[in-house]
Amino acid sequence: MAQRILSGVQPTGNLHLGNYLGAIRNWVETQQEYDNFFCVVDLHAITVPHDPKTLAQDTYTIAALYLACGIDLSYSTIFVQSHVSAHSELAWLLNCITPLNWLERMIQFKEKAVKQGDNVSAGLLDYPVLMASDILLYEADKVPVGEDQKQHLELTRNIAQRTNDQFGKKDQPVFKLPDPLIRNEGARVMSLLDGTKKMSKSDPSEMSRINLLDSPDDIKKKIKRCKTDPVKGLSFDDPERPECDNLLTLYMLLSGKTKKAVAEECQDMGWGQFKPLLTDAAVETLRPIQEKYQQLMTEKGYLDSILKEGQEKASAIAQQTLSRVKDALGYLPRF
Ligand code: AMP
Ligand code: TRP
Repeated sequence: MAQRILSGVQPTGNLHLGNYLGAIRNWVETQQEYDNFFCVVDLHAITVPHDPKTLAQDTYTIAALYLACGIDLSYSTIFVQSHVSAHSELAWLLNCITPLNWLERMIQFKEKAVKQGDNVSAGLLDYPVLMASDILLYEADKVPVGEDQKQHLELTRNIAQRTNDQFGKKDQPVFKLPDPLIRNEGARVMSLLDGTKKMSKSDPSEMSRINLLDSPDDIKKKIKRCKTDPVKGLSFDDPERPECDNLLTLYMLLSGKTKKAVAEECQDMGWGQFKPLLTDAAVETLRPIQEKYQQLMTEKGYLDSILKEGQEKASAIAQQTLSRVKDALGYLPRF
């Protein structure tokens, strides 16, 4: 049997090149080798204040973008996290197994909590336990994500191991321990305005990121104004030039060229020569995705049918795992 993959993206705001290059592109590339589950993690989306008027629409957007980016239903299942109630239920059970200080250590919590000021929800702290539930319910072997999720995956493994230690039998662990799948290139796409900060949906400046649905004009404008340096000749891996490394890496990934080819092509270039090349590569990569997306968004009935099928397939697996966990914890079985 093929190994199983599970991953997800939150329906908050527009997807950007970091989400695409760090996560979704990799899902698409390896999907034929695995049994894949891709989730729109809408329960995670309310861990910071959200707008109920746009949540459902944003959920459609992410599902349509999964398909538009090339997720193929013959290998992959797409579903909405809140449609499978086992996610919330398992999160509760794991909450009672997870030590509080494990959560307080999470870098993403600390970063996001600062931004929320006094208004930090218990859900924001608990976010990684829900993520662990997403993964463990499907007994995922691998979880393809960007670099920023590495700590959450270590936590997931720790929660799984602790549950096995406390409630598993020797030859019958409660959970399978998942492995992260983090690529070397593209796992950390940086902001266009600061090569030391990651590209993020929550950056207040639109100029810091290229969204998958940006028009060619917007892409051109953003690349034209992005931060560079005064050095002539472009090269990878110079710690003094984080923007240069980021932009060359973007160009490499979007054009499909090798690192060596890009290094040679750009070694004598100035920014004025390079920026149009990067713009073209971004526009050409995104064009087919945007066309497919526009078409899918006119077919809500079709999207609904895919999400319904995903819900059924995901629920069947998730319920089985949940029953096994409840059994291991000693619950009276349901009537
Ligand atoms: P999120 O936008 O937080 O829902 O993230 C969805 C996926 O995109 C996760 O796998 C993240 O690790 C990945 N991701 C988010 N931002 C970046 C980035 N700047 N570079 C690479 N991957 C990213
Ligand atoms: N926390 C992830 C992020 O923000 C999203 C996510 C939620 C996820 N559940 C998941 C990713 C399960 C992989 C597997 O990027």
